Amino acid sequence: MAQLPNSLEARDVAFQLHSYADARKQEQTGSLVIEKGEGIYVEDVSGKRYIEGMAGLWSVAVGFGEKRLVEAAARQMEKLPYYHTFTFKTHGPSIELAEKLIEMAPVPMSKVYFTNSGSEANDTAIKLIWYRSNALGQPERKKIISRMRGYHGVTVASASLTGLPNNHKSFDLPLPQILHTTSPHYRTMKKDGESEAEFARRCAQDLEDLILAEGPETIAAFFAEPVMGAGGVVVPPDGYWQAVQPVLKKYGILFVADEVICGFGRTGNMFGTETYSLQPDMMTLSKALSSSYQPISALLINDTVYEPIADESHRIGVLGHGYTGSGHPVAAAVALENLKIIEERDLVGHVREIAPTFQKRLAGLADNPLVVETRGIGLIGAAELHHPAHSDTPGSLGAAANAAFQENGLISRAMLDAMAFCPPLIITDGQVNDLFDIAEESLKKVAASL
Ligand SMILES: Cc1ncc(COP(=O)(O)O)c(C=O)c1O
Repeated sequence: MAQLPNSLEARDVAFQLHSYADARKQEQTGSLVIEKGEGIYVEDVSGKRYIEGMAGLWSVAVGFGEKRLVEAAARQMEKLPYYHTFTFKTHGPSIELAEKLIEMAPVPMSKVYFTNSGSEANDTAIKLIWYRSNALGQPERKKIISRMRGYHGVTVASASLTGLPNNHKSFDLPLPQILHTTSPHYRTMKKDGESEAEFARRCAQDLEDLILAEGPETIAAFFAEPVMGAGGVVVPPDGYWQAVQPVLKKYGILFVADEVICGFGRTGNMFGTETYSLQPDMMTLSKALSSSYQPISALLINDTVYEPIADESHRIGVLGHGYTGSGHPVAAAVALENLKIIEERDLVGHVREIAPTFQKRLAGLADNPLVVETRGIGLIGAAELHHPAHSDTPGSLGAAANAAFQENGLISRAMLDAMAFCPPLIITDGQVNDLFDIAEESLKKVAASL
């Protein structure tokens, strides 16, 4: 790409190291500089408009340019731009948001611990789980199980939970206490002749076998997203959660539901926990919590978790953990206003209304010969691509499709060769059709070029 030496594009590659990019490739190709957003659309510096088919990073629930969030931030900035929640200090927005989240929680929860990102929420969950095991006099109960293809973040501990090779390679991860069980992706993981229900039961059996092999007394917790997001949008097979949860109960293993993507409406209920009748002991929330207008995340814990932790902090004299930005007043004020909008506009009801069109159009992508599977629920989905010409280079077909989408005005995300769709929750029926019209046309062009 020809770049003016002083352009934003040139200065970007000169000064910024990007997440999830091949840095050498980016030095050559440059970056896409987004300047503004409105509703489901964003615009780049050249004035080209795109449908933000990923709501940023699965996160801008109420859409771009929501003035009420801007005003909530400005009001809080003027009143109290910063204060913390260390020691015995606190402030109104963090109190109100904690109370609101406990009230909204789909299963009984007791306390909220605020963090700044999904990774930090999961990382904190792991630390508190270890602290609790020590408090209970079970110092051997430290191992944690997550799933292959699960995504839980990128800090040292949360990247270890993440079950994707590129989050481990050359980072010397995962940590030895973190183990991975079978991914619930039926199409790629099923055995010959195995039904979906049989596969779901085998996933639960694999989990139990792992627990028994390691020693049940050494397993502290199981982390899982109700629907896997960044691992390729993997919707669990029928019967999966009904088979998995009793295994956790049987061995007294805590269940942490990572609701960072599913939370606040994405699957057609306020939480994925409701969609799949889950009984987590802890939940992690972020992204749509503030529509990502401000960085904020939250860890919800029930009494089983809180009580021993409270005792241990009393025994030691302090809970030796805390982030400067925990429950930041501006982020908390924005999150509160964002939740108000989600409730007032009944965005969960809206997702249920729009989801049939979204899922029908997603399934329709399978008419393209490149598409080997579509999968989704609510307003999240993916189309998996395959072509023999690309089979030696996983991700190259996804990259080609991504480039075609972008050229035609649609931002998606290629997770290897699975194209993800996760638009703002405010998307209308007509806009869903626009999104998939572009996807269909782009995939036709990519197929024709092969
Ligand atoms: C399910 C899930 N958990 C955790 C995270 C990590 O969140 P963050 O990027 O804010 O650290 C993500 C990010 O995409 C996620 O999708």
